[in-house]
Amino acid sequence: MPLTLSRPELQRTANFIAGEWCTAAGRTLDVTDPATGALIAQVPDSGADDARAAVDAAHAAFPAWRRTPAKQRAQILKRWNDLVLAHQDDLGRLISREQGKPLAEGIGEVAYAASYIEWFAEEATRANGDVIPAPVPGRRMFAIKEPVGVVAAITPWNFPAAMIARKIAPALAAGCTVVCKPAEDTPLTSLALVALAAQAGVPAGVLNIVTASRERTPEVVDAWLDDARVRKITFTGSTPVGKHLARRSADTLKKLSLELGGNAPFIVFEDADIDAAVEGLMAAKFRNGGQTCVCPNRVFVHEAVHDEFAKLLAARVAALRVGPASEPGSQIGPMINARAIEKIERHVQDAVARGARVLAGGARLPALGPNYFAPTVLVNADAAMACACEETFGPVVPLTRFADEAEVVAQANDTPFGLAAYFYSRDVRRIWRVADALEAGIVGINEGALAAEAAPFGGVKDSGYGREGSVHGLGDYLHTKYICQGQLD
Ligand code: SIN
Repeated sequence: MPLTLSRPELQRTANFIAGEWCTAAGRTLDVTDPATGALIAQVPDSGADDARAAVDAAHAAFPAWRRTPAKQRAQILKRWNDLVLAHQDDLGRLISREQGKPLAEGIGEVAYAASYIEWFAEEATRANGDVIPAPVPGRRMFAIKEPVGVVAAITPWNFPAAMIARKIAPALAAGCTVVCKPAEDTPLTSLALVALAAQAGVPAGVLNIVTASRERTPEVVDAWLDDARVRKITFTGSTPVGKHLARRSADTLKKLSLELGGNAPFIVFEDADIDAAVEGLMAAKFRNGGQTCVCPNRVFVHEAVHDEFAKLLAARVAALRVGPASEPGSQIGPMINARAIEKIERHVQDAVARGARVLAGGARLPALGPNYFAPTVLVNADAAMACACEETFGPVVPLTRFADEAEVVAQANDTPFGLAAYFYSRDVRRIWRVADALEAGIVGINEGALAAEAAPFGGVKDSGYGREGSVHGLGDYLHTKYICQGQLD
């Protein structure tokens, strides 16, 4: 089915460097529909020269952009926000087509992305510093905030609009200029957002984007890592890649924001409201078909409520409608690609081989297409299973029984990761005890939907560092300059 947009020029298939749409020399990258494998478009498969050209443009644009009054930057961002919302349906269609999430979710993601642009438009004018009482007479002391410089944003495929907005809006608000490489699976949404940013008045060179295949991405990223003009890298993706970026940034001491893998625990205590816990798990787990860094990956249920919880959950999961993103009523679309579906299948087969029992789903749905997997509930999961050690990134819920609070908190923390954690309880003492004890950057208590533009998003341990969203999200693009004036007495 052809991709029809009410504004077809939003479907861009070129790099955007120094305010111009330009093709990379020779090679192209196929963008395909994850539901069918059909070709949607071809975009440049860029290399080191394109990456350097983008930095040249961003570096040249930085002095003027950082001096642009914050209020003016804010006005441009507000126009960008308005344009994104005005094209919500087209952008939602692009997201759904290249990423596979149901159309309603794609359209919802556009509003989520815009909420970050709006938030950082407002924060742009509040990058306040401090006036510090001087410890000696005759001095005035200040701490002012300055943009860090050129930022390289490397974004993931699972939220092609929201992750671009969450990184680029604060960078522009702070006065930084940007070079961006979107995920190879989902470049079209990013290119459309950049087109709208240019239409909103983001000056030439301030925002540049280059697309590249999985094979050529290292060439692009290495060019940025080696370039001392790039002062910050912001990345969302896997922990091994995040660690590689951290190591390779050392020579030029770039600032880093790394939003990496998760292995979120979801704990249901015996005093929980069970219906609310099922509802919260459905919301947290099945958003984007389970392809979310903050999705619960391990679900621990107290033995006193385990069977009731499992039965209610399995009924809800079995009723989920799986189908193409475009089909009205679809709740779970195709997984992003063959690698993703193979991992999900491997996790379920490994769990079953080690003693887990399937309560719902459990297999691919080949009649729908190559990348569909039935939403799945497993019981008798344990810590040795692959689904407990690795992030499944798919619609699979493994349930594990527990008997004791201290034991389950230890199990929840027994992972190198620490992005999100969730628990359900009605005991106020337990609530604060467990919230304090969980090793995670984000904790949901009796709530499954946590992300919001006003909240700090990010992890601890192997889930990375830096925060996106909130006032902290702007701070990650600023540094502090201390200014001391003497001889004033
Ligand atoms: C992510 O999966 O990295 C982002 C999820 C979110 O914003 O909630």
